[in-house]
Amino acid sequence: MKGLLHLYFVLCVLLLSSTLSSNSSASTNLCPRDQSLALIQFNNSLSIDCSASEYWCLEHIQKKTISWKLGTSCCLWDGVNCESETGNVIGLDLSCSCLIGSIFSNSTLFLLHHLQHLNLAYNDFFPSQIASEFGHFTNLTHLNISGSGFTGIIPLQFSHLSKLVSLDLSDSTNIYYADDLIFEGHVFEKVLGNLTKLQHLLLDEVDMSSVVPTSFLNMSSSIRTLTFWFNGLQGKFPVDVFLFPCLQRFSLTGNDIEINFPKVNWSAPLRSLEVSSLMYSSLGEVTDSIGNLKSPGIGSFFF
Ligand SMILES: *[C@@H]1O[C@H](CO)[C@@H](O)[C@H](O)[C@H]1NC(C)=O
Ligand SMILES: *[C@@H]1O[C@H](CO)[C@@H](O)[C@H](O)[C@H]1NC(C)=O
Ligand SMILES: *[C@@H]1O[C@H](CO)[C@@H](O)[C@H](O)[C@H]1NC(C)=O
Ligand SMILES: *[C@@H]1O[C@H](CO)[C@@H](O)[C@H](O)[C@H]1NC(C)=O
Ligand SMILES: *[C@@H]1O[C@H](CO)[C@@H](O)[C@H](O)[C@H]1NC(C)=O
Ligand SMILES: *[C@@H]1O[C@H](CO)[C@@H](O)[C@H](O)[C@H]1NC(C)=O
Repeated sequence: MKGLLHLYFVLCVLLLSSTLSSNSSASTNLCPRDQSLALIQFNNSLSIDCSASEYWCLEHIQKKTISWKLGTSCCLWDGVNCESETGNVIGLDLSCSCLIGSIFSNSTLFLLHHLQHLNLAYNDFFPSQIASEFGHFTNLTHLNISGSGFTGIIPLQFSHLSKLVSLDLSDSTNIYYADDLIFEGHVFEKVLGNLTKLQHLLLDEVDMSSVVPTSFLNMSSSIRTLTFWFNGLQGKFPVDVFLFPCLQRFSLTGNDIEINFPKVNWSAPLRSLEVSSLMYSSLGEVTDSIGNLKSPGIGSFFF
């Protein structure tokens, strides 16, 4: 058993170290003109209004785009990160920046092909239809559009984002809106199958009512975080998901799902398991199998 755990640990370290990204700094003054222009036009297509962000962002509100000044290098602007050698814009973090407006498929945001990190979380782009142009960001390792008001059907082009390590589409439209993002079953399967480096997948409140739970078996073996709240998932959840070697945090709440936890040999190095108020789960079996949970690092359980 110890040998097996050790093996899992080594496997995880190998999987994780292969996806670490290199250091880059914004100390350079370079900023390619086309990318500067794309940022300015993107900025001009939006306005600033903090009323929607206040609740979600609390003290984290930062109107980053206010610091964006014409005639200065975009690499010096708040929220913009450039690659040190080329000056290409590889990071854009505008989370909690009080931005409101629409992001259509013709947005100049999608001209920033070099992006590796994109965080637009907790702004108000409602009701922007999620554009297939997101699939152009083929070098993205981190995408976060949590709570930013995107709606509609997640396009198949998300399967092009094969370098993604972290994908956060949770609470897409936060509680003020009814329209959720929709992950169709066949799209979900293709996307999961192609995102082979994925470690963090957060899909709270994404409508997944047409997803078959066995699709989760297509997941990257590097998966560490899986959170699903109120997705309209139905059916039996495949027990083998608990045996993914890197799985550390698992949350599946408010879905009409039947889970049968492994009765023996929970060999995955789970550190935290949050499985709250499942509609159908045999708690008797859960507590029985917890007894068999020998993984040393296990921290917390929530039921
Ligand atoms: C990245 O580079 C910057 C500037 O050269 C440096 O200050 C920072 O410590 C580096 N970060 C890491 C994680 O190496
Ligand atoms: C970006 O938008 C902000 C807020 O709307 C504005 O203050 C700023 O001048 C704009 N910067 C550029 C370079 O367009
Ligand atoms: C971008 O697309 C939207 C919606 O289709 C349209 O209303 C807008 O005029 C377009 N903007 C430009 C600059 O073409
Ligand atoms: C994507 O990354 C690869 C490898 O780092 C690089 O050669 C390529 O130019 C990048 N593409 C874009 C559009 O930045
Ligand atoms: C997405 O961004 C929000 C706001 O910055 C942050 O709270 C959340 O942890 C991010 N998600 C991931 C997976 O990093
Ligand atoms: C999966 O990703 C690869 C790049 O790693 C890409 O060439 C291929 O088109 C993608 N497949 C789908 C179905 O998007």
